[in-house]
Formats: sequence, C-alpha cells, structure tokens
Amino acid sequence: MYRLKVATGTDLAASTCSNVSIVLVGVHGESEIHKLPHQWNNFISGAVTEFNIAVNKDLGELLMVKLSMERYLNFPLDPWYCNYVTVTCPKDQLYKFPLYQWIFKSVEIPEGKGVVITKNIHPALQQQRKLELEMNRETHKWKVYAEGAPHCIDVTNDDPQNLPPNDQYSFQKLAHFGSTSYSTGLEVKLNGYALNADSWHILEDIKLVSSLRRSQYSDIVSKIWKEDSFFGSQYLNGLNPTMIKKCVQVPGNFPVTDHMVAQSLGACTNLQKELQNGHIFLADYEVLQGVPTNTINEKPQYIAAPMCLLWKNPQDQLVPIAIQLSQTPGTNVPIFLPSDSEYDWVLAKIWVRSADVQAHEADTHLLHTHLLAEVFSIASIRHLPMGHPVYKLIIPHFRYTLQINALARTRLIGPGGVFDQASVTGKGGIPVIIKKAMAELTYSRLCLPDDIKGRGMEHIPNYLYRDDGMKIWAAMESFVSNIINYYYTSDEMVKEDPELQAWVAEIFKEGFLQNKSSEVPSSLGTRDSLIKYLTMVIFRCSAQHAAVNSGQFDFYSWMPNGPMTMKSPPPSTKGVTTMETILQALPDVNSTAAAISSVWLLSNEPMDRRHLGEYPDERFTEKTPQIFIKKFQQQLSEISKCIQERNKTMRLPYPYLDPNQIENSVSI
Ligand code: FE2
Repeated sequence: MYRLKVATGTDLAASTCSNVSIVLVGVHGESEIHKLPHQWNNFISGAVTEFNIAVNKDLGELLMVKLSMERYLNFPLDPWYCNYVTVTCPKDQLYKFPLYQWIFKSVEIPEGKGVVITKNIHPALQQQRKLELEMNRETHKWKVYAEGAPHCIDVTNDDPQNLPPNDQYSFQKLAHFGSTSYSTGLEVKLNGYALNADSWHILEDIKLVSSLRRSQYSDIVSKIWKEDSFFGSQYLNGLNPTMIKKCVQVPGNFPVTDHMVAQSLGACTNLQKELQNGHIFLADYEVLQGVPTNTINEKPQYIAAPMCLLWKNPQDQLVPIAIQLSQTPGTNVPIFLPSDSEYDWVLAKIWVRSADVQAHEADTHLLHTHLLAEVFSIASIRHLPMGHPVYKLIIPHFRYTLQINALARTRLIGPGGVFDQASVTGKGGIPVIIKKAMAELTYSRLCLPDDIKGRGMEHIPNYLYRDDGMKIWAAMESFVSNIINYYYTSDEMVKEDPELQAWVAEIFKEGFLQNKSSEVPSSLGTRDSLIKYLTMVIFRCSAQHAAVNSGQFDFYSWMPNGPMTMKSPPPSTKGVTTMETILQALPDVNSTAAAISSVWLLSNEPMDRRHLGEYPDERFTEKTPQIFIKKFQQQLSEISKCIQERNKTMRLPYPYLDPNQIENSVSI
C-alpha cells in the first residue's frame, strides 16, 4: 500500500472539481493508473488530502508521479493549482514531489531532490525533462518589444490575460491591484484634476493632488526639496542611486572653471584639489540626448540631457556646484551655479530632477530590473526543468514578473498609457532611451560590488544604497554559493551541464542581443562564475528593484522634485526666471495627477507578497538546502534589524533595502 498526500494551492481559484488520477513511476517500472476518489473537498483551496493506493508490484525507488485530470460528470475541465504530492512507500520511505503550478490536463512531477544532468541520470527522468522543456518552449516564446531592447514574452496584444496561467497574478493580487488602480483613478477624476489642462498657478496647490494619498516621506520631501544637500543626497539614497560617478577630470563638454565654483568650495580649496581628493562627482544624462519628445494637451514638451557636478563638502554632504542643461556648451547654454538668483538655481535643479526621472524610469528601473528580470524568467522556464537545482533556486524570484511587465507594456508605456498622457518620453521616447542604454549596459554594472567600484563610489559617506546593498549581496552570494557547491561538486559539472549552458546562452542572445562588449557571459566555466551570475540575477530581481521602485511615491509625489515632463525649453540665459515661469514650465494639472496616481499604484505592492528570502513553496525537499535557506533568512533578519535601528536616527530614513521591505521578485 502506498500512502499519498495531495496538496492544493491556497489561492481562491486553486480548487478543481475534475477527476484526478495518478501513476507512480519507480526505477522498477510504473503503477497502473489510479483514479483518486472524487469527494467535494478533496481538491479545494488549501486542502491536503490523504489517499491509499494498492500497487501489486515493487516499484523500487520512486522517480516521479504522473497526474492527469478528466471532466467530472458534465462539468467543464477546470484547472487545478497543485502544490505537491507526497508518497510513503510500503517500507515507510517518504518521497516528495513539489509542483506549485496549474495543471490543465496532465503533468509529470519528478521527485524533489535537485538533479543536474549527468550520464547517470535515469532515462525516465531524462525523458520527463525533455518533454517538460519542449512544452515550456511552446508556451514561452520570445518576441521583439522594441528594436535594440531585450526581447520579451510573446503574448497576443501583450494582454496579461493571455499569459501562461503560471505567470499570472493570483486572484487576490489581481483584485487588490485592480481596486487600488480603480480607486486612485476615480479620485483623480472626481476631483476634477483629470480634465484640467492648465498650468499650476500656485506651487503649494500641487499638494492638493499629492495629498490624495499620503506618505510620511512625501510630506518631508515637499518641505526640503529645494535644499542643495537633499538634491545631492538623492544621488546616494534616492530612486536613482546608480547615476552618479566619481569625477577625476571635468569632461571637455562641461567647461566648469575654478572661478565658477570657488564660492561653493570656499577659500581653503579649489576644483583641482577637490578632484584630486576624490570629492567631485558627476551625473551625466547623455543617455537622454536626442530622445524624441511628446506633445501633451496639444503643447510641445521638452527634455534636456544635463550634466551636474557635485561636491562632497567637509560636512560630508553631497551638494551640486554646477549645472549645464545640455551636452553641448555654448553662449546660450549657461552653467548654473548656487550663487545665481534663487529662481535660476531652483529651475536648473528642477531640470536635472526632470532628466533624472526619465533616466531612472526608462534605464535604471525598466531596463535594469523589469526587462532583464523578464529575460531571466523566460529563459529559465524554457531551459531549466523543475528538477534542476538552479530552477528551484531562482524561480521564486520571477514570481509575477511577466504579468507586471505585460501590464506595463499596455497601461504604462503602451499607446494611450500613463507615459503618453504625462511624460515627455511618451509616444516614442522610451524605446529610444532603452536602445541607447543597452549600448552602455555591462556585466559589471549589473553586479553591485563591481558597479560601486566602477563608478568610484567605494568611499563616499552616507551612501546607504551601497552599504545596505552590499550586505544583502554578501548574504545572497553566500546562500547561492552553499546551494551551488552542494549540487555541483566540480567546475566540470558546471561546464558539462547542457541545460544550464543553454540557459546562459539564451539570456545572452535574447536579453543582451549578443553584445560581446557588454562582457555578459554567454557560457559559464566554473562554480564561482555561476555563483556570481546567479547572485546578480537574484539581486536584480529583488533588492535592486526594491531600491529603484518602492520610493516612487515618496520622491515623486511632490511633483517639482520629479517632474515627468517640462513645458518650456531649458533656460538659455540667466536672470529671467521667476516663480511664474517655473510654474509655466512644470507639468499641467492633469498630467501631474496622472503621474502621481501611477506612482502611488507602483509604490504599493498588491497583496499576496513574498519578501526576500521567503520560500513558502518547498521546492528544495532535501534537508541540507533547507538549512541553507534558514541560514540565509537569519542573515537577512540581522541585516534588517541593523537597518531599522539606523533608520530610527534619521530625518529621512532609507528603508528601501530593508530585507523586510524587499519583494522576492519584480512584481509591481
Ligand atoms: Fe517596478
């Protein structure tokens, strides 16, 4: 007698009323097909149901179970979300078969221990993996989203409802996302903002929209947004913390003189000395050069590709000391300075913030997290079968990514979406930025320790993105290293794993478009290189996305700190800016409202969350990997405690890389 437990998922829609049958497959052969008794509550949401089946031969060590479904009476065949099956053999040996997927007709679930393909693999398992991947390659095909951009999932009309079911939001998540989206949109409409295509008349009135929703941060930001030290701090601990780099020589197309910055630097030093001391930093928005611009409310919109020089002052603050709103210097391209009139300097900083929003959303956020996460996800499903240890390790980090990206392609950056309504890069600018950013995308920029070093940002104080991020990177790397060294006992095993190599090669091809100068690997020869690669994948899909996503409402809801468009060209002379010209340059009321309601939606992960390191689906069934998971969770919990203690002492805390706040995957 074999004793079975069959577990149904907990999502409201997980249950089935169909008939379920099972076949057990062992090294000595397989059982006959057993129809599991049909009772109303056997496969309802959250059920773990026990069955006994008699098998009149010794199957030996169990390799897999085959589940199949048939219609019950005249009911339609309804899909079933099966978590797992366990089987206890007559000799009391327990086998676990984790699935955590929807079943529509049939599925073969291999026994739970992670298996890398070697010559010794049982032919039945080899065949199961081959069939699984063949089917996955049918459901997950690539398509070109935009020329020069990473490829994406091929679904009809990019409609999330056409996605493979395992990639769709759960019922709870979809309902919560829908209600937040609907209620925020409705408030904007009811309050009349959506139909008002005028400029703002009084700056403070912008609070009418941002106060539809409140966050502790947005209130503080609205008070301190004009402070130079806050402006500079956003390069370290804001939404776009990878834009800045150390400057050892001011670029030739940014002719800042010693005289210009003398007042900012004070009498004790000069520009040359500060460059040598490593205290000068540059934010260069060249990626925005030549990007086509939108027309909103029948008014042309403007974008700039500024350059901003910053100084780490003796108080350890990072402050802007010179701003040029173009890549090409000239007589009508002033270099703005803190010593200029208040409004000249404020407007110059608003222009830089406006450029930063575009670079952040298209490059840092969309390309560097969402689009790459989608590539990692599709390639994993196409090349790593569920029995592969790397699949078990990384699949939780792709949860709901295809759904949010399909939503983004239709409702955010698609025709008529929020970017078309509210952003200068709507109606065609985004793909241009992505294509330009792809040319600059390198493997070292994707790996946090290398990126920090590459930008010369190892020593600047108060860089919390770096400090918190490096702790998380180290914990992740140690976890990944434990898992990889457990399953791969030599570098040869990595080299000779055909599934793993096909996976890496396809990511290089479909994600990085075979750009060799990116130095992204197209194959992996050692365990160390695999550990680094997987750490990069997991970090990007979790911590990196949290760092550049979760604070969107905090930083952008006070619109002057992050205008998504500008309605006047960049100023070409000094001394003419007034509060009135600033208000005319800022986005109209309706585009402000559209932007603020969307950042509210995107800053709030809908229900059904899983935080970094939470693996409630038991895909690793062996004891040792489970111990590694616990250890990882303990490390994350210690990091979280430290961050929370530190944040208590800060005027503007940095919670975005607190592991308790980080989602396991890109899902919003
Ligand atoms: Fe996001």
